[in-house]
Amino acid sequence: MVKVEKYIPKSIERIKKEVDGRTIIALSGGVDSSVCAVLAHRAIGDKLIPIYIDTGLMRKGETERIKEIFADMNLQVVHAKDRFLAALKGLEDPEEKRKAVGEAFIRAFEEEARELEAEYLIQGTIYPDRIESEGGIKSHHNVGGLPSVIEFKGIVEPIDDLYKDEVREVARALGLPDEISNRMPFPGPGLSVRIIGMVTEEKLDVVREANAIVEEELLETFHPWQTFAAVLGKGTGVKGDLRVHGWIVAVRAVGSRDGMTAESMELPWEVLKKIESRITSEIPSVVRVVYDLSPKPPATIEFE
Ligand code: XMP
Repeated sequence: MVKVEKYIPKSIERIKKEVDGRTIIALSGGVDSSVCAVLAHRAIGDKLIPIYIDTGLMRKGETERIKEIFADMNLQVVHAKDRFLAALKGLEDPEEKRKAVGEAFIRAFEEEARELEAEYLIQGTIYPDRIESEGGIKSHHNVGGLPSVIEFKGIVEPIDDLYKDEVREVARALGLPDEISNRMPFPGPGLSVRIIGMVTEEKLDVVREANAIVEEELLETFHPWQTFAAVLGKGTGVKGDLRVHGWIVAVRAVGSRDGMTAESMELPWEVLKKIESRITSEIPSVVRVVYDLSPKPPATIEFE
């Protein structure tokens, strides 16, 4: 385990040495980019401009929290929901959806970087990402890729020698709140991978609300590796005397070590019933709630 008391000042010195101009970082609120943003801010102050892209695919309240947590930085919030919804319009295939989100992200980020005339880029690559990329297992980064068109004077990856648990420790030592240091993995393509088929604003609203309820009920008590809700499609239900066509929401809670394999968590029946009852009463367009029992493999953790 890395010694954080030594690591933090060393890393700040390194950034000071490698960067001497206007610098940007794509800040997602994940632990990696958050740690990099704080280290870089301590190194170069307002020369760092963290860019947070609100894709419209974020969880409930996420954008507001990021603004609060990073209020002392020169944070640029790019409201790009319309661009992402337009890019996703009509797409049903999971890989096409993922690609559309990745490309929209890169374009939005590039536009912002150009406008700001940024010279340096900081990236939250961590050690396992580097190994995976070098080994050709997958090209990595959050939200699909990196700006490839812009020529930066320098690209710095301040935490590329840390494992995830070490990044979390550095996050705590830097004083970041638990919601960042203990944050569950959240996929780059956001809530779009938790909607089967076409992404619409209506489905996004349903999945966002349902997800918030699931997190509230499970996160602090059961400490899952990951827990969330997904919208599967529509099915028949009854409301009063009427048969209605409403949304089917799936609840997922898994234990895992590294995300490569996962087990569905065994949750108390009363807890599952409470989640069902809250989701169907707080989101009236939902008629059915199911709990996903599948391990990975053969399922994946996310639904798409
Ligand atoms: P799956 O669904 O493949 O997910 O079992 C394994 C872990 O990776 C996360 N995930 C992603 N993370 N971009 C990301 O940054 C993605 O496109 C992506 N897809 C899945 C998922 O949340 C889980 O932690």
